[in-house]
Amino acid sequence: KAVAVILVGGPTKGTRFRILSFNTPEPLFPLAGQPMVGHLINSCKRVFFFTWTIPNLAQVFLVGFYEEREFAIYVSSISNELKVPVRYLKEDKPHGSGGSLFYFRDQIMEESPSHIFMLNHDVCCSFPLPNMLEAHMSYGGMGTILVIKVSAESANQFGELVADPITKELLHYTEKPETFVSDLINCGVYVFTPQIFSAIQEVYLHMEDRADISRASSFELQLATRSLPIDYVRLDQDILSPLAGKKQLYTYETMDFWEQIKTPGMSIKCSALYLAQFRCSSPHLLANGDGNKKAMVVGDVYIHPSAKVHPTAKGIGNKLSFGCGSIISYIDEQIGPNVSISANVRVAAGARLVNCIVLDDVDIKENAVIMYAIVGWKSSLGRWSRVQADGEYNTKFGITILGEAVSVEDEVVVINSIVLPNKMLNVSVQEEIIL
Ligand code: GDD
Repeated sequence: KAVAVILVGGPTKGTRFRILSFNTPEPLFPLAGQPMVGHLINSCKRVFFFTWTIPNLAQVFLVGFYEEREFAIYVSSISNELKVPVRYLKEDKPHGSGGSLFYFRDQIMEESPSHIFMLNHDVCCSFPLPNMLEAHMSYGGMGTILVIKVSAESANQFGELVADPITKELLHYTEKPETFVSDLINCGVYVFTPQIFSAIQEVYLHMEDRADISRASSFELQLATRSLPIDYVRLDQDILSPLAGKKQLYTYETMDFWEQIKTPGMSIKCSALYLAQFRCSSPHLLANGDGNKKAMVVGDVYIHPSAKVHPTAKGIGNKLSFGCGSIISYIDEQIGPNVSISANVRVAAGARLVNCIVLDDVDIKENAVIMYAIVGWKSSLGRWSRVQADGEYNTKFGITILGEAVSVEDEVVVINSIVLPNKMLNVSVQEEIIL
């Protein structure tokens, strides 16, 4: 048996998503129509469904310090849908990525799993978990880390590591180093044997030893050691770094896509990656994947079944065929590519949507345009209004975000701006934060 643990963090970590995480915790923000963590849970489930040579998935745990009620509805619905028990475990305070795993060791070990998958919630990836597990079993170590090569310039935002090219053993690990170590980085996806708990316990014991020696108060100890609480253990700095080169940790390199989702702009990029993945894994979720029912769609588009999109096909253009299967679409410059339309959204005639995420209950009137933007729950866009990024699309900053219940009047243009919830815009704005 195996279990999966997804670290979801807590509200303080959600500040990167600021206005979009007021009411919805960041891990439940939808990408390609599914909560961010839903893609991870699905990947865990898929592994065990299709691969009979490896153990069954007993449970999925979401571990974080959000209030329980924020996850209650989601965990019960996803458990029913996937027929895998998904539980939310709430920490009383942050314990760090290693400490939070250790804090719930009794619950995680309840069913005596032989393997524990651990995933950061804020990564977008094809999650090659079966291959990783197979590699892990062949290495015979305590843990295997999913790794990927990135550009040398971007590597310092991640854990950089060196692995033996033949044995794949982790030889050296530095978290976000100031000087370049390697372009091979930690993807935040792991498989461990239960020995990981002993390794974390060692770190605690080591910290306690230091407390005895110095007879320091716990406050002094925090200062003396790492300026962090004594029950706070970071998986990367406190476990991976010291265990590198000790034949306990190994690496598995993915050649497929991987991104970290730290900004709303990245969520648009990651939505595109997941939509593209649906072409192979779940074509029925794509608006053009079921026999071209919606002729105005171009490229990968998700439309929730309850959304009402006006069928204004303005003519039939070229046939496009995609990599997987026989998905066919017609170009008519209406909706797509990379568009996710959530529940109960209404899109009127002549509207144009490109590279955007439109959340529940949004009302889009005739001929409105949305490009490189996220439109918050219950917002409304008037006739001929435009909500968009300007010029070159920049995943870090260059998108427009409307918070919940923002109303954009007819013909108003909103460019590269962030609009806080409940605002009414009756004049056009550019490069502004509307508080
Ligand atoms: N439950 C819980 N409790 N979760 C936590 C806590 C905690 O106290 N602290 C962090 N997390 C979760 C975050 O929500 C995230 O899912 C994961 O643990 C890692 O977060 P950080 O420790 O803040 O690290 P990071 O995101 O800056 O970098 C890590 O991930 C990168 C890949 O995305 C590192 O492991 C890097 O080396 C790695 O490249």
